[in-house]
Amino acid sequence: PTIRLSDYQQPEFWIETVDLHFKLHPTQTRVRSRIAFKGNTDRTDGPHDLRLHGQDLKLISASINSTALKADEILIDAEGLSIPADLVPQDGFLWECEVETNPQANTSLNGLYMSNGMYCTQCEAEGFRKITYYLDRPDVMAVFTVEIEGDVPVLLSNGNNLGDGKWHDPWPKPAYLFALVAGDLVSYDDHFTTMNGREVELQIYVRPGDESKCAYAMDSLKRSMRWDETEYGREYDLNLFMIVAVDDFNMGAMENKGLNIFNSKYVLASPKTATDRDYELIEGIIAHEYFHNWTGNRITCRDWFQLCLKEGLTVYRDQQFSGDARSHAVNRIENVLQLRARQFREDAGPLAHPVRPEEYIEINNFYTATVYEKGAEVIGMLHSLVGADNYRKALDLYFERHDGQACTIEDWIKVFEDACNTDLSQFALWYSQAGTPRITVTEDFSGDTLTLTFTQTNPDTPGQTGKKPQVVPIRTGFLSPDGSEAAPEQLLVLDAGLKSFEINGLVDKPTLSLLRGFSAPVVLERQITNAERAFLLTHDSDPFNQWEAGRDYALSLLQGMILNDADVDPAFPKAMRAVAVNEALDPAFRALVLSLPSEDALAQAIFEQGTSPDPDAIYAARQTLAKAVATELSGDLQGLYSDLATPGPYTPDAEAAGKRSLRGAVLALISHVEADCATAKAQFAAADNMTEQLSALSTLIRHDQGDAEVQAFYDQWQADRLVIDKWFTVQVASAPADKAVDVARALTQHKDFDWKNPNRYRSLIAGFAMMNLAGFHRKDGAGYEFFADWLIKLDPVNPQTTARMCGGFETWRRYDASREQLMQAQLQRIADLPDLSKDTAEIVGKILN
Ligand code: ARG
Ligand code: ZN
Repeated sequence: PTIRLSDYQQPEFWIETVDLHFKLHPTQTRVRSRIAFKGNTDRTDGPHDLRLHGQDLKLISASINSTALKADEILIDAEGLSIPADLVPQDGFLWECEVETNPQANTSLNGLYMSNGMYCTQCEAEGFRKITYYLDRPDVMAVFTVEIEGDVPVLLSNGNNLGDGKWHDPWPKPAYLFALVAGDLVSYDDHFTTMNGREVELQIYVRPGDESKCAYAMDSLKRSMRWDETEYGREYDLNLFMIVAVDDFNMGAMENKGLNIFNSKYVLASPKTATDRDYELIEGIIAHEYFHNWTGNRITCRDWFQLCLKEGLTVYRDQQFSGDARSHAVNRIENVLQLRARQFREDAGPLAHPVRPEEYIEINNFYTATVYEKGAEVIGMLHSLVGADNYRKALDLYFERHDGQACTIEDWIKVFEDACNTDLSQFALWYSQAGTPRITVTEDFSGDTLTLTFTQTNPDTPGQTGKKPQVVPIRTGFLSPDGSEAAPEQLLVLDAGLKSFEINGLVDKPTLSLLRGFSAPVVLERQITNAERAFLLTHDSDPFNQWEAGRDYALSLLQGMILNDADVDPAFPKAMRAVAVNEALDPAFRALVLSLPSEDALAQAIFEQGTSPDPDAIYAARQTLAKAVATELSGDLQGLYSDLATPGPYTPDAEAAGKRSLRGAVLALISHVEADCATAKAQFAAADNMTEQLSALSTLIRHDQGDAEVQAFYDQWQADRLVIDKWFTVQVASAPADKAVDVARALTQHKDFDWKNPNRYRSLIAGFAMMNLAGFHRKDGAGYEFFADWLIKLDPVNPQTTARMCGGFETWRRYDASREQLMQAQLQRIADLPDLSKDTAEIVGKILN
């Protein structure tokens, strides 16, 4: 059934305290609960039945106020149980119940399950109902006490450790923040002194043998704790904070109170096994989950439609943190690349939905780029509209007013309105209207005055037409012919379908630097020449727009090459060379400028011009342009390559990582002009860190020169599961298009292809479908069939991961009639399955319609 925001009602009962007792067993875990319910006096429409959520539970016994309920007094169905109102004291009662569950059989990785012999839980969004009968909704917040009995050395749950497997969490919380972990684990320990001098014990629990890979996660945690104090005034509120790394996990990580559970790939790192990108992600995700302690846990969501309340804000906060820890410019560019690749793609397709959705069938399908990344962009716009001081004032008010509550987006907006004395009703459309606004601009210069006229259109999306104009903050710079700022930068606020702005006192017509820092998540269309692009690439003082100018230049050239058979504009490689050798620029930034737009980004751009993209032509054009850049730079490449070496022991900091990143880009260029990939082969042989080993391997595979290295890599790393994930991905992602399906198919037969492990499954199946455009879209449809076969295989085992991966098909309408039909047939094959999960059914149904 469809759940609607407009149907929200408060619960009939509240819960004050919960006592849970676990007797762990791999196939027959017993859970006893004692729950103190009290009537909700706001619900005057009673008397009410007691309705509790519960799934895949075997009910052993239940009682109300110590009177056992008889079998015929309990109505059990697939979603839970009901007790008739006449057996339920309406103002409050004690519920006691015992259930049995089978963690071993739980392959969904929601609720209580087993991973490598270890017990663990994932309760967000609605997994707690697989542990016991409960009011499994975020507006029901209770104090939890937990006792765990089990045959394993380590028994963990939320809050403070009372010893002997007993835990008490003093902070009332919704059930989705409950966690339990038990197993043969070791901890890597440290401590933190809070701003008010409280001592907090910090522990990272991992499997024995992994202790040596926890230092970076711990360091990131301590830096996050300090940052939240200095930047938001938020202090940690328990005397213990734990992180557990698990190998089988559907998502990245989970912010359970005091006991964050992580996909092990976002905790474990050593120079030899983790890339610079892995280090960066670990830092960002550790921070994200830690920041949830205030934005998510102390202040939570009233219902799941409000998910962006905690996720958008927490992503925004982790992006601020990473920017402070590394480079704001480089981070902003990386974040926008992600936003466009995932969120703009989502917004432009059949799965488009508002940052705050209004209906869903399965809430797990809404942990999306739109809720997370666009949700963060909305906060960033608020920040720039009200200014830094007002933003801080508003956040202070938010924590003061709503601590301990389950809130809505309306509450959030009201805080800003009150703190900043402003009306945000139009701004709030960012939460309710789906789709990426499209902005155009025209310039008119006369006398000393520039008139800028912006238009805004808000495209229709599934189920939403006739949208209103939104509030679009456009940071704008004005460059004089010599490259200096002709006038101070302005924040132009476009809040209508059409609006003009006048800038006076100019001597010459300036070159505009529009949407600096990507100040709003919109598509901006402007008339601009390649000469102006090259000018901005050289002179713009805003690093985001400097990068954007180069990107835009490359996009327009590649489109011309693909659609009109245009030749490479010789000015482009020259512009790239100027950046590549400019030592005044951060190497990480130079690497980003040198990387060409992705194949998927080109496919999207071409589709938006009204043409069906040809994946093979896209692939070929990128190769041609890369070769042209490599040729222009051929005299510089070896020099750059050796200057960028980072001798001495590996360090994961942004500076060293930036050098390796540019060096990787240079290596890719070298391999375009060097017949035998000798440099890549030498790098592979000499590498003492995963970043350089993997970039060499990927380059070799792209040039079909990597057979021996693929084998050597496997031999070296077969015992390390996270590295072997990379081994699967690099082969399918870098394989030449005509070979990719065969490579992928062969790898599914490999003895290490443990497809029930989400990391391993994604490394191969998503690596193929999402990272090899021309391989996936092979003309004969073999790629589509392979992908659909594996979605079908995974669905009964793990619906959540299957549904998420169906996004590989979300762009099917971009392509030519033949490919479109082939993809449609595969989608239909999935949709027609008799026992398809509701997760996958919802997504495939939307993609098809
Ligand atoms: N709240 C977690 C995070 O963003 C993600 C949990 C996702 N869980 C899910 N079932 N979709 O950090
Ligand atoms: Zn989150």
